[in-house]
Amino acid sequence: MTQTQVESKIKIERLKDVESLMPELLKLYIKSYQGLEEYAYTDPSSIRRYFRWLFRHDPQGFFLAKDKNRIVGFIAVDATWISHGEKVGEIHELAVDPDQRGKGIAKMLIEEAFRYFKNKGLKKSGLWVGEHNRGAQHLYRKLGFEECYTKGIWIRMEKKL
Ligand SMILES: CC(C)(COP(=O)(O)OP(=O)(O)OC[C@H]1O[C@@H](n2cnc3c(N)ncnc32)[C@H](O)[C@@H]1OP(=O)(O)O)[C@@H](O)C(=O)NCCC(=O)NCCS
Repeated sequence: MTQTQVESKIKIERLKDVESLMPELLKLYIKSYQGLEEYAYTDPSSIRRYFRWLFRHDPQGFFLAKDKNRIVGFIAVDATWISHGEKVGEIHELAVDPDQRGKGIAKMLIEEAFRYFKNKGLKKSGLWVGEHNRGAQHLYRKLGFEECYTKGIWIRMEKKL
């Protein structure tokens, strides 16, 4: 199947209520971070708290990738974030089901986030990625992000919108 066919099958939609989808999101998050646990919350109560935090900070900025009714990926962003005194569209979280990777789903989610940020008048997007999370770093570089600096195990990447 080509990437265009996959894209037409996957629909991106805004999350409306985090509580009702919590069990599905929790499962997807744990599955997505298998092998990368050093960069993730691992106990379910912390993950639930984290999801509530993400949704509360920007209730408009949580997008789901759906294949029919199944969630296959999500991105949680914040269009009200300030980094070093500057407004940035912050990408807090991104995950795609390991069984659905390499089909352009993360790219679709990030592009949706860019549209959202641009509608809010933002000029820059930023994120933190784990220093050994080479797959995600590769994806972000492909989409125009550049490494800025590191803090502990995290690398700061930013991109002009
Ligand atoms: C990182 C992640 C979201 C990528 O999801 P995905 O849907 O497979 O990514 P896409 O198919 O949209 O990839 C888009 C581009 O990035 C590249 N890319 C994505 N993952 C990659 C990997 N692991 N290694 C190399 N390149 C990768 C793809 O080759 C593709 O490039 P192309 O358009 O030239 O083919 C997914 O691997 C994941 O959920 N990882 C665990 C959670 C995580 O690390 N989140 C990010 C936290 S900062």
